[in-house]
Formats: sequence, C-alpha cells, structure tokens
Amino acid sequence: MIGGSAVAKRVMCVVGARPNFMKIAPLMRRLGASVSLEPYLVHTGQHYDAAMKAAFFEQLHIPEPDQDLGVGSGTHAAQTAEIMRRFEPVVEAQAPDAVLVVGDVNSTIACALVAAKKGVPVVHVEAGLRSFDRSMPEEINRVLTDQLSELLFTTERLALENLEREGIGPARVHFVGNVMIDTLLHNRRRAPSVAAVLAAADIADPPGQRFGVITLHRPSNVDDPLTLERLVDALAELSAELPLLFPLHPRTAARLEANGLRKRAAAACTLLPPLDYLHMLGLLQSATMVLTDSGGIQEETTALGVPCLTLRANTERPITVSEGTNTMVGTDRARILAAARNILSDGGKAGRIPELWDGRAAERIVAVLEDWLAPVQ
Ligand code: UD1
Repeated sequence: MIGGSAVAKRVMCVVGARPNFMKIAPLMRRLGASVSLEPYLVHTGQHYDAAMKAAFFEQLHIPEPDQDLGVGSGTHAAQTAEIMRRFEPVVEAQAPDAVLVVGDVNSTIACALVAAKKGVPVVHVEAGLRSFDRSMPEEINRVLTDQLSELLFTTERLALENLEREGIGPARVHFVGNVMIDTLLHNRRRAPSVAAVLAAADIADPPGQRFGVITLHRPSNVDDPLTLERLVDALAELSAELPLLFPLHPRTAARLEANGLRKRAAAACTLLPPLDYLHMLGLLQSATMVLTDSGGIQEETTALGVPCLTLRANTERPITVSEGTNTMVGTDRARILAAARNILSDGGKAGRIPELWDGRAAERIVAVLEDWLAPVQ
C-alpha cells in the first residue's frame, strides 16, 4: 500500500459525472470533519458544463476539486482511457491511502482500475447494484468496480447477494444506506417552489397543482430514433391529461434535434435546460408523478413518496419497486399511458422509506473508514 501522511490518512475521492456530485457531497463533509482522515477531491471532468457541474458544487457546498483532470466527452474507450492516463500521475504524486469511487459512471471504473493496479485500496460507495443487463455501460462499470474494490458500501440488503454470487464475501461489504438520500434530506427544505423554478427558466405560466416531470438520457432510449419517437408520442398523449415539465440532458437535446423531434417534444412538454440540484428537487417533490430513465431519480422519488414510472426494462435498484414508489413500465406507449392514468386516478404507490435511507449513510461510511484506515491503537 502507498502510505499517506503520518497524521491523517488520505482518502482520494473521485467524481466525474452529474450523479456523482450529490453522492460525494455528504462524504466530503464528513471526511473533512474527521480527525484521522483527510479528503482529497479529484474531478475527472467527464461532465464539465456549468449546468452539469459548477451549479452542483456551489449548491451542495462541495469544495473545489484539488485536481480537475479536464477529460471531457468522448467514446467510452477514449473517455475511460483518458481518465486513466490523467489519473495515474495524480495517484503517484499524492500517495493516497485509499481511493474512494461512487456510483457506476466511466470515471468510477477508470479510477478504480488505476488505483487497484497501483496497489491503492479501492473503496466503492453504492456497490452491488445489478440490472443484469450488460448492454448498459453502467452495468459493466458496476461489476468491474466491485471486483476491484477492497471495501464495498451498499444501499440495500439485496446488493450483498449480488456480490456474494460474484465471489465477494460479506467481510468486505457494509450495508450503510444511501448517500444520495443524505443529500436529499439535507437539502429538501432549501428547494425552491415550482413557480420559482419556472420563473428562473423564463417560463411565465406555471402548470398548476398537478404536473409530471420527465427525464430521459439513457443511450438505449435517446440514441435509438424509433424508441425516442415512441416516447415522445407517449408524452404527447399524456400531456392532454397532465402538464409535463421536461429538463433536457445535453445528450437528449442533441438527439431530439438530430431526429427532427424537438418541435413535437416542445408541443407536448415545457422543455427546460438541465436543472441544478435544488431546482430539480423543487420540481420532484411537488410532482404528481415522475417519468424517468435515471437511476438516482428512482431513489429520490421513493424517498420523497412521489410515484415514479421508470421507462426501462429493468432496474438495478429493485428496492424502489418492492418498497418504494417506483413502477417499471419500459418504453411501450400503451403501457406507459395505462400506468400514468392509474396514478392520475388513484394517486399511485405510496411506498415506504427503505431501511437506513435516513440521512446518515456518510456518517456510517466514514466511521468504517476510520476504523479500517486509522484504527485506534
Ligand atoms: C453519464 C453516465 C451515466 C449517467 C449520466 C448522468 C457513463 C457511462 N454514463 O452519461 O451513467 O447517468 O452521465 O448525466 O459514465 N455533455 C455536455 N456537457 C457535459 C457533459 C456531457 O454537453 O458537461 C454531452 C456531450 O455531448 C457528451 C454527452 O453529453 O458526449 C454524453 O456525456 P457522457 O459523459 O459521455 O455520458 P452521459 O450520457 O452524460
């Protein structure tokens, strides 16, 4: 193992893409307050637009990264390789005692691989989630990152079964809850009203009491023109019964444009730019329902008690279905509309809050890390 400072053990934390930021915020706060650990933050630069990065750092009070690798966009191979190339010298120079990665994006696997080969222990937060769908790039990232990790923190009990099936024993796995929900509970009261969110986007007429929020960005949905068109048609039909607000991920904006679907989408939905964390939370917590293909939003709607329809064939977060407010509906127009109408008529699944989604996951993680890296003699 590469040694850190004699006093505090250095935990190099990695973020890269939008969903990483809300996961790292409570960890940076807790690590910063630890006497025996010190955080060192690396941003790979996978997401770089102000709306995809800076807004999150500011709102969630994440300290500016100690290093920004500035990798930007690219194919999976190019992006992953570039992150690895730029991360390796940082590990060499900083000699961390552990590298902590979160989630399942390309930055997660790239940095885990570099650290493991340098003999630096990898810590994975949000380990053991499986969609069992290897056509998702994130699934490959999850499986491989878990294999490389020495310490794995899980958000739901089923994750341990997934890990054991892949030969990862319980001694390395700690069920601690969900850091993304730490951030949600910490910030919920700061979220602006729906009217304020829309006013900030220069939209004069807010939708009234009942509205739906749409998010779409999975390549399987937005990169396939036929699927994208089918989804836009479903939204057009639903919009006759429920006003729809649709913040656009840059990938989705580009695909709607390229396929000549932007006008149809704009006729069905109020299109918004990518929203910062608090504005998105403002919409989510007041929504009648949310239609999404995001992983994180399936969890956030469960924590908020807002019905969620997931526009995918599978989920790596099954607890949001078994205990929470989530229903898997795929991308079939009739199935989406039937499920949405059910929610309109009976209010949808109420759900319950999953075990340990109580706002204290980061606290538990840091306690385990302190014991592991800097045990009291
Ligand atoms: C990535 C993650 C995905 C996560 C999503 C959240 C992987 C494999 N995918 O997907 O798991 O759910 O982030 O957003 O890591 N772009 C910009 N500005 C930016 C960043 C990206 O315009 O700041 C555009 C670029 O055209 C880029 C495209 O978005 O090519 C996709 O970005 P990329 O990071 O490759 O993947 P995401 O689709 O964002």
